[in-house]
Amino acid sequence: MTTAVLHDLDLTSEAYVSDPHTAYDRIREAGDAVYLSTHDAFGVGRYDAVRQVLGDWETFSSARGIALNDLTNEATAGMIIATDPPEHDALREVLADKLSPRALRALGESVNAQAGVLVDDLLGRTTDFDAVVDLAQAFPIQVVLDLVGLPADGRDEVLRWADAAFSAAAPMSERTMAAFPLLQEQLAYLSSIHRDDLVEGSMGRAIYDAADAGRIAQESCVPLMSAYVTAGVDTTINAISNAVQLFAEHPEQWDALRRDRSLLPNAVNEILRYDSPLQYFCRVATRDAEIGGDPVAAGSRIVVFYPSANRDERKWGNPLEFDIARPDAAEHLAFSYGIHGCAGQGLARLEAQAMLGALAERVERFEVGEPVRRLNQLIRGLAHLPTSVRLAD
Ligand code: HEM
Repeated sequence: MTTAVLHDLDLTSEAYVSDPHTAYDRIREAGDAVYLSTHDAFGVGRYDAVRQVLGDWETFSSARGIALNDLTNEATAGMIIATDPPEHDALREVLADKLSPRALRALGESVNAQAGVLVDDLLGRTTDFDAVVDLAQAFPIQVVLDLVGLPADGRDEVLRWADAAFSAAAPMSERTMAAFPLLQEQLAYLSSIHRDDLVEGSMGRAIYDAADAGRIAQESCVPLMSAYVTAGVDTTINAISNAVQLFAEHPEQWDALRRDRSLLPNAVNEILRYDSPLQYFCRVATRDAEIGGDPVAAGSRIVVFYPSANRDERKWGNPLEFDIARPDAAEHLAFSYGIHGCAGQGLARLEAQAMLGALAERVERFEVGEPVRRLNQLIRGLAHLPTSVRLAD
């Protein structure tokens, strides 16, 4: 069997960044593992193949780098996202109880209340706003940074830093290079925070406590905090702003959600399936293997495209239909899968459900103007979304 090759697919190009789904259609069409010669890597975009790779860390390792450039792979070595067991398990364990279903149940009420206050406050002032800046951005920053326990000052830059952290995983380009100084800034900021400045009982404190107890190395503290800060804001922001756009375009789905709030959890899954924020991370094959029916040699770099799996017609039948009652929406791979499956997915779901629940109370109809896309290399989302709402009686 010969492996399919795509010569002209460039993940740093304007064409890919502004319209990744056209590239994903081509990758899925071509095979299970498709050689992307521009990047000397195999692209994987079919649902079953993506799940296979993510579900087998022994064959498809994260410890040899999850990025598509050497500089970032060196800089992220030893971070939670770029380790295999047993190192990975030790790092993951540190915050497991803080993000457990029990902990999240306890947090639910306050997250719901915060969403309610934010929505009431905004809609009390105006019915015309920017759903990205005024609604989606403020909320996850507040929730996640409070949980990590960071002091109130110095938070303004977090979004720029998170943006850069994702962009840095792309193949080397001008955009990728531009991300590095920002990453350094973020690490310098987190390093400058003394453990006593972190709120007692916070995730930040728990990280330092784990180091004191010898469960992780002292030098892992700042990178671990950085992972949660980075991963926890940008992704959820895009999920929330994508939701507003989708419900504006599909008013009948908004009506269905307002009629039956028990659809909220599935609606969040469908939003993430339809428009998955995170585009890809890599694995490296530890041995000769087959992905689906396609061979990959030991040492090959594999690029796993989560949003492609979530629109694979082999899996979903009608992937381009946005349907919040879709029976298998929970099987989406926007949070990845396997041992690196998103550590914050419970929190992300909680935040998105809280925000949509608060909006469902107050908003009868969304209308949106021309969205402005934010061109990040790994995170697909919006910079601005002019929005008008008609309030419920
Ligand atoms: C809608 C929102 C979110 C999306 C779409 C998302 C997506 C992802 C994906 C795809 C990965 C897997 C990377 C891989 O396969 O190697 C991941 C990992 C991770 N996420 Fe999320 N994420 C979201 C929200 C959050 C939040 C709110 C937090 C924390 C508060 C968080 C923390 C993490 C961490 C720490 C990892 C690394 C896990 C590991 O390597 O074991 N994420 N996320």
